Amino acid sequence: MTATIIDGKARADRMVQEVTERTARLKAEHGVVPGLAVILVGSDAASQVYVASKSRRAAACGFHSVQNDMAETTSEAELLAQVEAFNADPAIHGILVQLPLPAHIDAGKVIQSIDPDKDVDGFHFINVGRLGTGETDTALVPCTPAGSMLLLEDVAGHDLSGKTAVVVGRSNIVGKPMFNLLLKANATVTIAHSRTPDLPGLCRSADIVVAAIGRPGFIRGDWIKPGATVIDVGINRIDAPEKGEGKTRLVGDVDFAGASAVAGAITPVPGGVGPMTIAMLMANTLRAAEHSVAVS
Ligand code: GUN
Repeated sequence: MTATIIDGKARADRMVQEVTERTARLKAEHGVVPGLAVILVGSDAASQVYVASKSRRAAACGFHSVQNDMAETTSEAELLAQVEAFNADPAIHGILVQLPLPAHIDAGKVIQSIDPDKDVDGFHFINVGRLGTGETDTALVPCTPAGSMLLLEDVAGHDLSGKTAVVVGRSNIVGKPMFNLLLKANATVTIAHSRTPDLPGLCRSADIVVAAIGRPGFIRGDWIKPGATVIDVGINRIDAPEKGEGKTRLVGDVDFAGASAVAGAITPVPGGVGPMTIAMLMANTLRAAEHSVAVS
């Protein structure tokens, strides 16, 4: 059997198209343009690439897109003041502070200073709590798990009653919110992590495996139940001497060649979950803007 390859790029393009159309409608009907503010502190090369593509996508959706590049030496107080300014700015509906932050800044304190209704990363305790209590109508949900869930729903449907899911990885950004989304969809969910015994056996029992651990090719093909759905959240850059000296390539947390021979459906890396993350950031920003109209 060969798995269906889930096309995250096409799904993300569809989502961005929908966001663009709804943005035009919001502007026509309410005179509101969704505003996204992205704050980058320092000059981490990978963060610069991510932030630039977020700002570009936002502009392409028709958003008011603001990017504030702050110096590496920015103090915590200065960053908090910038967040406060965006909290108070009615033209801004979504605020994203790119992580990681320099070590002298308390990232948790900065995240909790964002207005929960503008917290398009879904990292504020209020949004974590909303998701944890199943209030998905009002929660802003972290972008990567939200996008992973959409890809899963496309192949497995909205109701996962009777299905077992194993989430490998317990991070606040992916593993824990993914657990809550799967539970909300009625799956029977287990979170596995580095202290879990017999991880291969546990994965082999699951109808759905979500891999979010950050270790290239860690999950092997023979850990996958025949016909299972595999969502690979990992993005790992590894050496690729076969492409030439000094070359690298991106791989997921799942051994794609092995798993795709067994699974029913699988997300590739690149081109699976990755493109969904930015698409969901746009969707969250639009939702925040629509919500501001509904409550004002
Ligand atoms: N750095 C890497 N991924 C993310 C993300 O999803 N949100 C933020 N704010 N920073 C990140």
